[in-house]
Amino acid sequence: MLSYTTYSEAGGVGKTTLAGFLADEHARDGRDVLTIDMDPQYGSLTHLVGVDAPRDDSDADNLTRHMIDRELGDFDDLILETEFGFDIVPSHNMLESLGDLLSKIEEMSADLDEEFDPYDQLRRVLVDAGIAQDYDTIIVDPPATAGPHLYNAVNATRSLVIPIEPTGKGMQSVIGLEELVEGIEERIDSEIGVLAAVPNGVGRTSDQETYLEEIHARGYPAPIAIRNRESLFQGCWKEQCTAHYYVENHRSRKRDHEMETLDQLDELAASIEEVAGA
Ligand SMILES: Nc1ncnc2c1ncn2[C@@H]1O[C@H](COP(=O)(O)OP(=O)(O)OP(=O)(O)O)[C@@H](O)[C@H]1O
Ligand SMILES: [Mg+2]
Repeated sequence: MLSYTTYSEAGGVGKTTLAGFLADEHARDGRDVLTIDMDPQYGSLTHLVGVDAPRDDSDADNLTRHMIDRELGDFDDLILETEFGFDIVPSHNMLESLGDLLSKIEEMSADLDEEFDPYDQLRRVLVDAGIAQDYDTIIVDPPATAGPHLYNAVNATRSLVIPIEPTGKGMQSVIGLEELVEGIEERIDSEIGVLAAVPNGVGRTSDQETYLEEIHARGYPAPIAIRNRESLFQGCWKEQCTAHYYVENHRSRKRDHEMETLDQLDELAASIEEVAGA
């Protein structure tokens, strides 16, 4: 099983975009991919892949209900197909209350002297649903804040793919990589692996190399850096599709720099598969 969470402490560095594009790449490699959108904000992975889910309907069954043991149906019924060869458990507004709901159960359980780990509920839901029988790849995309969404995501996947913004602050996040990983390990009381750190939105080639070197120096895999490709990335969000789909269906001619980005995404996915298998 290949499973990881896309995470970075910084907001807006491409976690969600990368989750969607990598899901596409793994599916192209013949893998059975399930993505899980844990970000309650509009404009999350569910939006990128263009699936229509009842996110405002408080009576609808959704991931949060399953995580607090108040589900209304089978977990399988939450799974929707995307147009890109992979599936998604979509976002729902109830994810906003996930932390409060888990805390309440934790308090109630403590009163009853029962064990309840608020950060182990996504893993429990996936195991109970037998997800490993239908999928060999799981990608979870939590919101940018460290909290119950992130800890549940990492507990279920045990690995991270970390996009890094190529600014002065971005170098801070390279320097802080180990601290980030250790902080999460402490919270969930398990070891986690970094499958890739990905400088994303890099301007110059020299910057690209500096970032990759710095990440390698810290012992983390970093096979590629993704250039700043606003036209391609914005196009994908506008048309609600993956990079491959966009180039194939919304470009009348192939552009070399965009083909280079597609090749890099392919290389990144292959590297992640290799690191995870090793
Ligand atoms: N390499 C890139 N080149 C140009 N634009 C990019 C690149 N990567 C991401 N973007 C753009 O950055 C924006 C934020 O991306 P995204 O939503 O994936 O980030 P995020 O880290 O998930 O944000 P959040 O912290 O809100 O969850 C999007 O508009 C996306 O198109
Ligand atoms: Mg996001």
